[in-house]
Amino acid sequence: MNFQLTDEHKLIRDTARNFAQNELLPGVIQRDENQLFPKDQVKKMGELGFMGMMVSPKYGGGGLDTISYVLAMEEISKVDASSSVIMSVNNSLVCWGIEKYGTEEQKEKYLKKLATGKIIGAFCLSEPEAGSDATSQKTSVNEIGNNFILNGSKNWITNGNSASIYIVFAQSDPNLGHKGINAIIVEKGLKGFQIGPKENKLGIRGSDTHSLMFDNVQVPKNNLLGKSGDGFKIAMQTLSGGRIGIAAQALGISSGAYELALKYSKERKSFGKLISKHQSIAFMLAEMATEIEASRLLCLHAAWEKDNDLKYDVSSAVAKLYAAEKAMKITTDAVQIHGGYGFVKEYHVERLMRDAKITQIYEGTSQIQKIVISRSILK
Ligand code: CAA
Repeated sequence: MNFQLTDEHKLIRDTARNFAQNELLPGVIQRDENQLFPKDQVKKMGELGFMGMMVSPKYGGGGLDTISYVLAMEEISKVDASSSVIMSVNNSLVCWGIEKYGTEEQKEKYLKKLATGKIIGAFCLSEPEAGSDATSQKTSVNEIGNNFILNGSKNWITNGNSASIYIVFAQSDPNLGHKGINAIIVEKGLKGFQIGPKENKLGIRGSDTHSLMFDNVQVPKNNLLGKSGDGFKIAMQTLSGGRIGIAAQALGISSGAYELALKYSKERKSFGKLISKHQSIAFMLAEMATEIEASRLLCLHAAWEKDNDLKYDVSSAVAKLYAAEKAMKITTDAVQIHGGYGFVKEYHVERLMRDAKITQIYEGTSQIQKIVISRSILK
C-alpha cells in the first residue's frame, strides 16, 4: 500500500489551500452571518476546475481521481464549508450521475456546463416525508405524450435556488415501490416549478437550501436519467460517492478547527505559561490530531476503492460516519480551547462547530451510515 501523494496530488492540494486562504477566508464571517451565497467564489472554483474535478476532459472536467477530490474538499472545507458543500453536490451528486447514466445528448447539453462551473446543479431526493426513508417518494411522475408530468415537493435542497438544473427523483407507480422511481433532469424556470424561501440554517449558511414545488411541470421524456425504474439505484450509487465528499468536508472542518486551536494554544497564556504547556490542553490536541489522521485515512481509503473500481458503499459510509462524528467532537473541543474567544465569531471556531453538525445529517444521517455498515457486516 502506497501512502504517498503524487506530485499532482500535492499541487491540487496546495492550489485548493491557496484558493481557500486567499479567496474564501476574506468575507467568510459576513457570508455566514448574512446568508450570502458565494457567487464570485463559486465562479472562481469553476475556473480552477474544482466544480467538475472527476469529469472526463471530453466534457470539460479535470479527469482527476477521487483522491484529488478529497484533498481539495479538505482544504476548502477548512475555511468555508458553505463553499465546499456547493462544490461537493455539483461534483459528486450531479456531474457524477450525469456522466455515469446520462445520454450523450444530456452530457453535451448539461455536463459540459456543470463541469466547468458555468452552471451548478442540485440533487433532489429528500421530501417532507421521505428523508432517511428515501424509498417513500411521494413526488409523482406520469407520462403524457413526449413529456413527463411532475407533481409534488422536495425539501432541504442544497443549491436550491442557485442551481440551473435539478436531478429530481419521482415515483412513476407506487405499486412498484423503489423499482418505480425515476431520475429526471429538470431545468429551472419551467412552468409550475416553484422555489420556496431560503432556509435560515444553523450552519453552512452561505449555501442556499430551499424547498421545491412541482405543479404539473412538463419535462421532455429525453430528460430521463438512466432507464425507467432505475432512479432509486442511481440515487443510492450517487450517494455512495457523495458520502466520500461529505466525509472529506467533515475532515476539513475538523482540521480547520484543530489548526486554529493549535495556533491559539501557542499564543495564549494562563497560570503563567502557554496553555499548550498544560497537559489538559496538550492531550486534547493529541486526540484531535489522532482523530483527524484516522478520518483522513478513511476518506482516502474510500476514494482509493472508488478509483480502483472496487465496491465503496461501505467504506464511504464508514468514512462519513467517523469523520462526521469526530468533526462534531473536534470543533466543540476547539471552541473549548479558545475559551470565551471561541464563543464569538471573529475566531471562526464557533462557525466550524455549527457547520460540523450538518455532516452528521445530510447525505444520510449517522444512523443511516450505521444501517449500511451493519447490513454489510451481518449479511
Ligand atoms: N448501490 C446500488 N444499489 C443499492 C445501494 C447502493 N449503494 N443501496 C441500496 N441499493 C439497492 C438495493 O440493492 C435494493 O435493490 P433490490 O430491491 O433490487 O435488491 C434497493 O436499492 C433498495 O435497497 P434497500 O432495501 O436497502 O432499501 P432501504 O429502504 O432499506 O433503504 C437506505 C436503504 C440505506 C436506508 C437508504 O434509504 C438511504 O440511504 N437513505 C438515506 C437517504 C439519504 O442519504 N438522503 C440524503 C439526501 S441527499 C442530500 O443530503 C444532498 C445534499 O443536499 C447535500
